[in-house]
Amino acid sequence: MGVAVITGAAGGIGVAVVKAFENANYDCVLLDRQKIDKPSSVSIALDLSNPVDVQSAFAKISERFSEIDALVNLAGVNLRSSVRNMQVTDWDKLMNINVGHMFLTAKCAMSMMRLGSTITNMASISGHVASADYPAYVTSKAAVESLTIALSKELKGAGIRVNAVAPGWVNAGFTHAALDTSDDPGAIFAAAKEAHLLGRMAEPDEIADAILWLAGPTATSVNGQTLFVDGGLMRKH
Ligand SMILES: NC(=O)c1ccc[n+]([C@@H]2O[C@H](COP(=O)([O-])OP(=O)(O)OC[C@H]3O[C@@H](n4cnc5c(N)ncnc54)[C@H](O)[C@@H]3O)[C@@H](O)[C@H]2O)c1
Repeated sequence: MGVAVITGAAGGIGVAVVKAFENANYDCVLLDRQKIDKPSSVSIALDLSNPVDVQSAFAKISERFSEIDALVNLAGVNLRSSVRNMQVTDWDKLMNINVGHMFLTAKCAMSMMRLGSTITNMASISGHVASADYPAYVTSKAAVESLTIALSKELKGAGIRVNAVAPGWVNAGFTHAALDTSDDPGAIFAAAKEAHLLGRMAEPDEIADAILWLAGPTATSVNGQTLFVDGGLMRKH
């Protein structure tokens, strides 16, 4: 199918996305700060918020592949802290990974893209339902959608589509971290049941399937969009 570069590939959703792209016969390049031991793919351990690391990763990618068909930006971090209590450095760190890395990877990848290549960025319903407990995270996810639209316009002449995916709660990564630190995991499942029209959170494979479709050759007229893969959460809100 082509070459897919996937950031945050070691994460809960990332693992499912890599599996979906591999099953669709993409050659996958996996970028994450965690080392990934996967012989079927090319893996590069790096700090995606560091421009030098990202440039050096794309230099390596260009030695191995002549073009990139799909760039999928999934890496992200979360931080529960009010504006009042948050350190400026923590705000900057979160923005540099959650949005900054999408700017860096797009900047590096676009010269290796061709007609039909795609960029798919991980947004979140959090960018629309801005919780007071996570101001940096919700702001970063709203910014991902604006960057996505701006990139779709910048790349229009090249026939490169740029879209975002916005999940609700996913049974993976961030949600598991919240479950692990919660005194009452049952309350989290109950909240998820209450929040989504479907009465449950999404499985990572469901998010991966949406990303694979958006990034692939059958979504040819979908561009500059955010696809809500949220079990109807936004319709209930
Ligand atoms: N889990 C959910 O409910 C949910 C819902 C909506 C959106 N999302 C988004 O999906 C994406 C993946 O989330 P997840 O739940 O799989 O979380 P996760 O923590 O399992 O995955 C995040 C990945 O990003 C990597 N990463 C973080 N900072 C990095 C850095 N500086 N350099 C390189 N890699 C870095 C981590 O190592 C990790 O592998 C995130 O962007 C998150 O905001 C998650």
